[in-house]
Amino acid sequence: MIIRPRRLRINETMRALVRETAISADQLIYPMFVVEGKGLKEEITAMPGQYRYSVDMLPAAVKDLEQAGVKHIILFGVPAPEAHDAYGTAAFIKDGIVQRAIHEIKSHSNIFITTDVCLCEYTDHGHCGILDPDGYVNNDKTLAVLAKTALSHVEAGADMVAPSDMMDGRVAAIRQILDENGYINTPVMSYAVKYASTYYGPFREAANSAPGKGNRKAYQMDYHNSREAEKEAALDVDEGADIIMVKPALAYLDIIAKLRPQIKLPLATYCVSGEYTMLKMAVDSGAVQPEIIYESHIAMRRAGADIIITYFAPELARFLQEAK
Ligand code: PBG
Ligand code: ZN
Repeated sequence: MIIRPRRLRINETMRALVRETAISADQLIYPMFVVEGKGLKEEITAMPGQYRYSVDMLPAAVKDLEQAGVKHIILFGVPAPEAHDAYGTAAFIKDGIVQRAIHEIKSHSNIFITTDVCLCEYTDHGHCGILDPDGYVNNDKTLAVLAKTALSHVEAGADMVAPSDMMDGRVAAIRQILDENGYINTPVMSYAVKYASTYYGPFREAANSAPGKGNRKAYQMDYHNSREAEKEAALDVDEGADIIMVKPALAYLDIIAKLRPQIKLPLATYCVSGEYTMLKMAVDSGAVQPEIIYESHIAMRRAGADIIITYFAPELARFLQEAK
């Protein structure tokens, strides 16, 4: 035998020399939920180990993250139920929950803040856009509200915006309003390829954003489709997106791998709430070893993702610090 692949696996030093993939904490983004109230750090029932923080509790939580080595957060607002209306007005007001959270965090830390731009946490019907009387989510009416929301986040101090609504043309609408207001250097990370996924279930409890009636299949992508991902990603590139995201992650590694050679922009993926909860519960039960978390995130990197949005960011970052 001349060729023996096992030569390169003989010990850890050898294996590390030829390793093709790694994770850096620099490219992890941690999702955080902000609620009204004071002194709150409430655990999310469907997501053990994840919390909703009131604005005043954010600086301390961010400090802990920074100590673990996490450099990025993505913020989700969970406004009081009374603030919900048909237009999602609470999403773009100056003293909205996310806007106040940004101010509070930035007055204590310079952590990089991305905001999720969507209306489902703010509408009384729980859909990601403005509803027509017949229940259809009106694409073009929604664009103006999303653009205003993105602008209000950036005006409050957000470093990057990430639209997650899946309306057509929203990246261009957001790019335009940011540029008109002088924010030419604020990037847009587009949830370009976002499937209508059952894996978002726990998030909807966390963000109190489940649609009252119906589902999101008339705007998020049909998970039977793969070519459609190429179309969605290409459109957002043309509209000026700076980063393209695939969501969810673990059940959609084929999509990441397919887009990787086509898209010249950085690719992000979102390991979503249901993926988190499945792994977390399996590890907590003792049925599988915690290393499954690292292995699963390596799979996302191997598929071609540069950036990973994950609820495991703090523990991964801590693990990477210890491994050094
Ligand atoms: C808002 C939004 C959702 C997620 C991110 N942004 C929920 C949805 O589209 O229903 C899901 C994140 C997760 O499940 O962790 N549109
Ligand atoms: Zn939404």
